Amino acid sequence: VAKTKCDIALFGAQGDLALRKLFPALYQLDKANLLAPQLRILGLARSPIDQENFLETVRIHLRKFTPTSEIDETVLARFLSRLFYFRIDFTDSTAYQALHQKLSETDNPLICYFATPAAIYGEICKNLHNAGSINKQTRIVLEKPIGYDLASSKTINDAVAKYFTEEQVYRIDHYLGKETVQNLIALRFANSLFGSQWDHNHIDHIEITVAETIGIEHRWGYFDRAGQLRDMVQNHLLQLLCLIAMDPPNDLSADSIRDEKVKVLKALKPIDTHSLNHHVIRGQYCAGSVQGEPVPGYLDESDSQNAQSCTETFVAIKAQICNWRWANVPFYLRTGKRMAEKLSQIIIHFKRPPHYIFAPEQRDIVENKLIIRLQPDEGISLQVLTKDQGLEKGMRLKPGPLKLNFSDTFHTQRIPDAYERLFLEVMQGSQYLFVRRDEIEYAWVWCDQIINGWLSQNARPQKYPAGSWGPISSIAMITLDGKSWHEDS
Ligand code: BG6
Repeated sequence: VAKTKCDIALFGAQGDLALRKLFPALYQLDKANLLAPQLRILGLARSPIDQENFLETVRIHLRKFTPTSEIDETVLARFLSRLFYFRIDFTDSTAYQALHQKLSETDNPLICYFATPAAIYGEICKNLHNAGSINKQTRIVLEKPIGYDLASSKTINDAVAKYFTEEQVYRIDHYLGKETVQNLIALRFANSLFGSQWDHNHIDHIEITVAETIGIEHRWGYFDRAGQLRDMVQNHLLQLLCLIAMDPPNDLSADSIRDEKVKVLKALKPIDTHSLNHHVIRGQYCAGSVQGEPVPGYLDESDSQNAQSCTETFVAIKAQICNWRWANVPFYLRTGKRMAEKLSQIIIHFKRPPHYIFAPEQRDIVENKLIIRLQPDEGISLQVLTKDQGLEKGMRLKPGPLKLNFSDTFHTQRIPDAYERLFLEVMQGSQYLFVRRDEIEYAWVWCDQIINGWLSQNARPQKYPAGSWGPISSIAMITLDGKSWHEDS
């Protein structure tokens, strides 16, 4: 991999994301020798701290969020020597001249990473532009959430588009940076075995689960305004759904892939107020115990500000894609906080054989499933039916897995964090793991309709105990269709 000459200006360098994810990811790239020797990282924030305090904060967090065995003191010293703190109020236009001088110390192409509230993205772009700090080579990276609904996301994207072309904008959905998520492209389009089976003729239904054991993690203020649908479905789950459902792209270029994803988003069947209660379950966790630890309910979290909040911490959706490939194939999506396990997986349930020749009582087990584990225990397993062994068994069927566990098979030392991959792609100017503006907007169109339906019904979310798999009704939703969530979960 070529090392790209550039400078990175990190807006929001004292924030949780920067300290927990971004600096550790850049450190790992340095350790893997993937940063150009002259690459500088400017940490921009409002805190009245000096360079020493800044380096100390980054050092402490790096040690906290990087396994000790991966800390190399020589690399750490080299990495810290790339860092410069620049104190700035992002909304103060007069402060950008001084920033410009700092940026002009090199002629390296500039990458601006905005880990700030999206509402000020436009203002930062304008200030950078007026100070003369941006040119055609400049790239900007925008963190999610971009907006709160379609209208606000358009406002933000319009404000940014005044100063940057779409080719300069890298919108993050960190799920696209996960190795296992990129592997969906390899799995689907490098294996003719699956390609020929990937449609309504062969697939009965698809499950996508992204379950977390963590709660709101001191982000109650943000989360209560967003909720699980905006926080997880509008972006991560719909991106997974697109990668599973899209047609083969012509090539691996960003636009070929994004064009296919957009077609899926446009084909999502709208969920109107009539279908809302059958197709969407909204939950909120109450007190319970997660992996043996008692935890409070959402409304009783220490930073809770509204004991009446109706914000959902869980959603299950029966989605449908109205196109030739996926006619009548339901996609069951579910995601929640404070669930029984941390688990992200996609299950493809194949149809039963067209003509059945085995004992009638075994009919229910005759199903192939492809289980794609995104995290943890990353791997792929295909459930196939075999003959149960033994003289007394006759032609009894038994399901068993054809299993590929990535770490066992490939002896992977460590799986790179999503942000490492994403930084690398921005540095190389490759956009295929980033979200194009129209993708974000079509995703909002679909989600807005669900949210508006909830608002018009004014109903409370259903409670589920922390540490469970969500409200009972989410199980009923799929059972009513004669199916069940995959039993691993
Ligand atoms: C973020 C959400 O985008 O993704 C968080 O804002 C969520 O609420 C996180 O916890 C989950 O990411 P991961 O990589 O831990 O699955």
